[in-house]
Amino acid sequence: MEYDFATIIEPFRIHSVEPLRLTSPAQRAEAIRLAGYNLFNLRAQDVLIDLLTDSGTGAMSRDQWAAIQHGDESYAGSPSWFRFEAAVKELFPFRHVIPTHQGRAAEKILFTAIGGVGKVVPNNTHFDTTRANVEATGAEALDLVIAEGHDPSLIHPFKGNMDVDALDAVLDRHATNVPLVMVTVTNNSGGGQPVSMANLRAVSETCQRHGVPLFLDACRFAENAWFIHEREPGYGEREVADIVREMASLADGMTMSAKKDPFGNIGGWLALNDDALAEQCRNLLILTEGFPTYGGLAGRDLEALAQGLREAVQHDYLRYRIRSTAYLGDALDRAGVPVVKPIGGHAVYIDARALLAHVAPLRYPGQSLAVALYEAGGVRSVEIGSVMFGRRPDGGEQPAAMELVRLAIPRRTYTQSHIDYVIEVVTSVARDASSLPGYRMVHEPAALRHFTARFEPIV
Ligand code: F0G
Repeated sequence: MEYDFATIIEPFRIHSVEPLRLTSPAQRAEAIRLAGYNLFNLRAQDVLIDLLTDSGTGAMSRDQWAAIQHGDESYAGSPSWFRFEAAVKELFPFRHVIPTHQGRAAEKILFTAIGGVGKVVPNNTHFDTTRANVEATGAEALDLVIAEGHDPSLIHPFKGNMDVDALDAVLDRHATNVPLVMVTVTNNSGGGQPVSMANLRAVSETCQRHGVPLFLDACRFAENAWFIHEREPGYGEREVADIVREMASLADGMTMSAKKDPFGNIGGWLALNDDALAEQCRNLLILTEGFPTYGGLAGRDLEALAQGLREAVQHDYLRYRIRSTAYLGDALDRAGVPVVKPIGGHAVYIDARALLAHVAPLRYPGQSLAVALYEAGGVRSVEIGSVMFGRRPDGGEQPAAMELVRLAIPRRTYTQSHIDYVIEVVTSVARDASSLPGYRMVHEPAALRHFTARFEPIV
């Protein structure tokens, strides 16, 4: 007999454990008050289930820890570097790989080299650091996700797709001022939604027609490839590693945060084919990150990433990863909590605009919900809405396209019972959502304000 079991088991067992610290509601109320109602300001030990980010928070495997023992800390030409470079090129065969300490360092180097006043950089949706690095050079960051990508409740298999007609129109008008086009896979700020191979190909062809290079912001490339494997006709029988290589073949380069799919606690890279641009980027790398065979990383980090890259594309792992994220999202959906649908790869996004309809966008409904989830159950999430994206480059404020609260799932870190607890916390808070207050910002930093802003509830 062959049975079809529904339980999603973690395809690993636990090898080393970290204690979690339980806190009382009174302790949490005090901790969040002292943090200025900003979850980034909390001490992590005051958090029970930390869904702030999936970045750098995953559990490394036995084989990654073993690889660390092979770390060679030679300043130049370390064997760890060559193993890392080979692992990157196995999936992303770009001519040049430039290691950095994390994704934003790759962005900073790339946009320092090619950005500037008068330039325009289209993307499906810029992540916050990507937008900030584009804008820091004086260039304009333009989001061109398809219209479906703006509607949280609308079901579409590839809601991260770029609007190719809109891109074509932008390139018709500005091609000479567009140094490159970026596509973020999966589209983090738009709900962790994937981009189809067909869309990537259409974007790639449009870019080629206008003579503009295409770069991937590829942090969650393996999750994106798994969605292609599951949802796009013709890819169901293909190996994920092979799908990743096809994605790479459509681009001219990439920026990467290795803190996501490659299971790094730190790391990133910039990869590209253009020799002259690579030379310019390496010179910038040496100024701030380090020598080109280690960038901002220790040899042992390079080893852990080389191994992590191999694990990231394994089918059993990806099936578990995507289904366990959907397990959380589907349970919230069934309980009537408005979530971005379909459920994305690394996170579940609650639609705070729908849930807290009584709180105006610039009173930060997402922030209010995120604070309430922490106070109620010690669950840390992150606002992706007007706090994160509401500040205009001219210093004014405008509501973001969506008011979301992201529950990001660290890789291989929490079990199903942790997630069952999160479901209870969120559904309990959601039942009382109409009693949650709006917030005002009482301290606003000039850049990336969400990290260090302070708030007060409006009572
Ligand atoms: N691009 C995307 C799509 C990201 O999600 C991130 C980071 C970066 C670039 C920057 O990489 O953190 O290594 O410098 N996202 C994290 C998050 C921080 O929580 O989504 P980094």
